[in-house]
Amino acid sequence: LDDLLGEGVQGRYVLVRSDLNVPLDSDRITDDGRVRAALPTIKKLADAGAKVVVTAHLGRPKGEPDPKYTLAPVAKRLSELLGAEVALAGDLVGESAKALTGGLADGGVVLLENVRFDARETSKDAADRSELAAELGALVPGGAFVSDGFGVVHRKQASVYEVASVLPAYAGGLVLAELDVLKKLTDDVRRPYVVVLGGAKVSDKLGVIANLLTKVDRLLIGGGMAYTFLKAQGHEVGNSLLQADQLDQVKGFLAEAEKRGVELVLPVDVLAATGFAADAEHEVVAATAIPADREGLDIGPETRELFAGKLADAATVFWNGPMGVFEFEAFSGGTRAVAEALVKSDAFTVVGGGDSAAAVRQLGLPEDGFSHISTGGGASLEYLEGKELPGVTALEEKN
Ligand code: 3PG
Repeated sequence: LDDLLGEGVQGRYVLVRSDLNVPLDSDRITDDGRVRAALPTIKKLADAGAKVVVTAHLGRPKGEPDPKYTLAPVAKRLSELLGAEVALAGDLVGESAKALTGGLADGGVVLLENVRFDARETSKDAADRSELAAELGALVPGGAFVSDGFGVVHRKQASVYEVASVLPAYAGGLVLAELDVLKKLTDDVRRPYVVVLGGAKVSDKLGVIANLLTKVDRLLIGGGMAYTFLKAQGHEVGNSLLQADQLDQVKGFLAEAEKRGVELVLPVDVLAATGFAADAEHEVVAATAIPADREGLDIGPETRELFAGKLADAATVFWNGPMGVFEFEAFSGGTRAVAEALVKSDAFTVVGGGDSAAAVRQLGLPEDGFSHISTGGGASLEYLEGKELPGVTALEEKN
């Protein structure tokens, strides 16, 4: 981005790919973290006199316009934060987008409608994606491309990957900052290195667990995925979330951790509820003795203390995934306890996007209590898994 700004962008079109995929409650943004994180790059370009055209996705529409996934609430929030009107095009590369971008003033910003309303964005066929990328490029004649949507760099999609071959391409400030942080979790990491993983499904984290077992000193497992670990150890987990098809893989992780001397820490107690509901009756039970008719919805008080203790001497911490159903007040205590332990810690603490980042903000914890709160859930996990990030490769190939 600084290179591009150095070249001068006054009066020049710049197409920016941002990740504005925010959680919504009908048309109310429940966590605007990604909009705020996207702002600095957009603002810098607009302040430098560029004609800024932002493209982004929201949710996973089926490749055609769907009012449920309009970026309208995002355009409104972006306008408020920028302090200037950000017009939303009624389409992506159609008449509305052409008219709005064509009439864009220097220093002005427009947002194109949800890029995933066009099936070519996520098409498996590279020719489709290249065609869309060319149409995006045609919207910004003589323009440049800034890739700033860190949360989506793990996707090989037209507005992330192919577009970098159509226009001179630059890494945005957010992408650079995020990569900088993630490097500190993989190269010359300060030890003890402790990772806390939670969230519902162990199947979402298989690759990252396999890779982390070769890197970390301690791995703390909470959230819905912990029950598959407990079951793999031979305990009954009642009605708790269980991925029976992952048991063999998880048993392999337990053995691998032991072999490598990685301390793998599981819950010792849980809040066992009568059902999945905010007001479900619940009690604290040992994690090894969850009654058959109950399901664990949060880690218990003893586990919270145990995890806080395991975090106390850490020099580096990465946390991804809530410890329980934090959206329900009664089951948010475990997630809050981990977040508070990180806030107290002097370690280099990184919150890895998605639900855990939303939890930090929803629970009212100070964002500056963490070294970094990533905007990328899947992207940061794939980086830590050692996978290639197509959106980053596309930029590297250009340079
Ligand atoms: C995310 O929410 O992690 C990013 O915006 C990517 O969204 P996706 O998983 O739908 O590609």
